[in-house]
Amino acid sequence: MASLMPRHQQVLSSLSLLLHLIVAAPATSSVYNHSSNCTRLLPDAEIVRKAFLHVGSFPLRRRSACHPVRRLRFPSKNLTGVLRWEELANLSSLLTLDLSGNSLQGDVHSAFWRAPSLRAVDASGNRLGGALRFDPSARLATLNVSGNRFTSVDGVERLVALEILDLSGNIIGAVPEGLPRLTRIRRLDLSRNMMAGVFPDDFPPLDDIDFLNISHNSFSCTVDADTVLKFGRSAFFQAGNASLLVEESGPTPAPTPPTSGREKHRRVVLVVVVVIVVCSVVVVAALVILVLARCVACRKKDKDGKKLSWAEEEVEVGAVKVAATAPVVVLERPLLNLTLADLATATSGFGRESQLADVGGRSGAAYRAVLPGDLDVVVRVVEGSVAGIGEDDDAAATAAGFRELARLRHPNILPLLGYCIAGKEKLLLYEYMEKGDLHRWLHELPVGSMDAQETSIDTLDAREDNQSVCDWPTRHRMILGIARGLAFLHQGWAGSGRPIVHGHLVPTNVLLGDDLEPRISDFMHHGGGSETPEKDVYSFGVLVLELVMGQAKWDEATVGWARGVIRNKKGENIVDARLKEEDAGGSAAEREAAECLQVGFLCTAPSPHKRPTMQQVVGVLKDIRPAPAGYSS
Ligand SMILES: *[C@@H]1O[C@H](CO)[C@@H](O)[C@H](O)[C@H]1NC(C)=O
Ligand SMILES: *[C@@H]1O[C@H](CO)[C@@H](O)[C@H](O)[C@H]1NC(C)=O
Ligand SMILES: *[C@@H]1O[C@H](CO)[C@@H](O)[C@H](O)[C@H]1NC(C)=O
Ligand SMILES: *[C@@H]1O[C@H](CO)[C@@H](O)[C@H](O)[C@H]1NC(C)=O
Ligand SMILES: *[C@@H]1O[C@H](CO)[C@@H](O)[C@H](O)[C@H]1NC(C)=O
Ligand SMILES: *[C@@H]1O[C@H](CO)[C@@H](O)[C@H](O)[C@H]1NC(C)=O
Ligand SMILES: *[C@@H]1O[C@H](CO)[C@@H](O)[C@H](O)[C@H]1NC(C)=O
Repeated sequence: MASLMPRHQQVLSSLSLLLHLIVAAPATSSVYNHSSNCTRLLPDAEIVRKAFLHVGSFPLRRRSACHPVRRLRFPSKNLTGVLRWEELANLSSLLTLDLSGNSLQGDVHSAFWRAPSLRAVDASGNRLGGALRFDPSARLATLNVSGNRFTSVDGVERLVALEILDLSGNIIGAVPEGLPRLTRIRRLDLSRNMMAGVFPDDFPPLDDIDFLNISHNSFSCTVDADTVLKFGRSAFFQAGNASLLVEESGPTPAPTPPTSGREKHRRVVLVVVVVIVVCSVVVVAALVILVLARCVACRKKDKDGKKLSWAEEEVEVGAVKVAATAPVVVLERPLLNLTLADLATATSGFGRESQLADVGGRSGAAYRAVLPGDLDVVVRVVEGSVAGIGEDDDAAATAAGFRELARLRHPNILPLLGYCIAGKEKLLLYEYMEKGDLHRWLHELPVGSMDAQETSIDTLDAREDNQSVCDWPTRHRMILGIARGLAFLHQGWAGSGRPIVHGHLVPTNVLLGDDLEPRISDFMHHGGGSETPEKDVYSFGVLVLELVMGQAKWDEATVGWARGVIRNKKGENIVDARLKEEDAGGSAAEREAAECLQVGFLCTAPSPHKRPTMQQVVGVLKDIRPAPAGYSS
């Protein structure tokens, strides 16, 4: 206690000193600088050049050396010659490769499949041949090598993430050996090969497959009626020795004794008549159904307007339908041509399964989506305005506002990655934060476990072992981070002095980055209205109390009680017991925690003008626990 006093006084005096300073210095030191030079990425262009060195008609257009190569799309471009596939494996950002409909020759080097980001490859309709061998690929989901001259397939089980496989129209002699182990496969086309093998024994579980075609092969198969019903007769046409069972001709006629020529003739006539009758009935029935369907469709159209699925022209966002072609602007990836339809696809049509539990967000529903380009994002459907943007219906002004919002970059602010304006609907794209929010971290995770069971092992590094809720330095780092983020917001647009007021700073709005660095999200208000920076400071004070005391659910009464305890210099009694479990920090940690309570006390001062500014708070917090050497701030 005695030793506490001088430190208290020191901190308090530095705070009161700061209170008399007018804060004008902009905190640009920690603003991200994105205009770095990009020598690191230059090799990509060189790799592409090398790979296509011997390919004829390759369009050698200038590539921006500053962007990693993510897509190589050259469908039907008259490409000829031999591609050096193995070179492409060094394109660490390559996601999709489309070389369909060309005349490329040679084989595909197995090392190619090691390209670490590869998700989709279409090499259909070329003259590629030989054995198709695979090195492991953890991500490849779609592979189309239809219409080539491959003779065998080796190591397909190494494509553990494969969902779509089209090997049709080659001259492959045997069913790929590892096929049953591809448990994620949904579409499988092996038609028009020369495959020997056993159906369904050599196949993945048919239950999980949506599309299958094994026609025109040499399988020994047992095909039951359900399977025929599911995949269609044509999927098994001439698939092997069982094909007779399912051929279009229907059940084979029972063997009949030899018949005379006349009888044969009569029989043919009979069959023809039957066929004609059946055909006309079918045609008439089809016409009737068509007409009926049209009428129903017309009526439906009259009733509720045009109804189309998201694969077509409109997307349902919540209950509102908007044009699927509305562009999605991803600010740092201007070449990523996404539309609302892509968002709909990635969120199963804004379905419940990809909706995130709403955690204190004031904006509308939020969805998780992994977009092309490997963008792991949260899509927020916004109702009303965001930070004063989009109050009117001027789309251009709204877009400009979003762009400005996206320019707000700070390590402790959740960055806006992009947006989509579709009529009155506004969607915002934010980075997805795997570690969740502060509330969950502080109150819902079992002590000591961190979230080790929930994140995969490879994302955990040794450093995180001591970043549990019991670790005081981690909590202090969070408090300081939140203070920095809020100070940055209060400074306003690029230091314009027009503060951005958060208005709803609660633990569920503080998300945690991989390194547990806090990121403030869901800030919505411009200065003005009833929200003020001072109110944010109060909310921050409560958050500090929560982080030090480890107690959830704060209201005015609890704040008043905690302030009483702190005023009576009994702060150390209400410090989170979990922090005391950890002995490493010892008494220093306890002292710092008690000093942070003082900050919480000052920030929750009943009269707004007595509260410090966030800039001042940052200074005090830094004094309380100076950054360890080598930790830049
Ligand atoms: C970012 O870095 C570049 C050089 O790498 C420099 O010219 C530029 O001024 C920096 N921008 C900011 C905002 O610091
Ligand atoms: C990139 O920056 C480094 C140092 O920051 C510098 O040495 C190099 O010349 C720069 N390269 C280009 C292409 O600007
Ligand atoms: C491909 O070659 C054919 C004939 O050589 C030519 O007519 C066609 O325009 C070419 N296509 C492209 C995309 O270059
Ligand atoms: C590609 O990477 C391999 C090893 O990772 C290396 O040996 C090879 O030289 C690289 N090729 C190019 C073109 O950078
Ligand atoms: C594979 O490519 C061929 C020819 O380009 C195309 O007809 C087929 O639909 C593709 N398969 C899949 C599964 O997309
Ligand atoms: C198809 O061939 C396999 C093996 O040769 C045999 O066991 C099976 O009975 C045959 N099926 C039919 C319908 O002939
Ligand atoms: C299967 O492939 C054959 C040959 O390409 C085709 O005629 C048939 O329509 C396909 N069946 C299905 C169900 O896709």
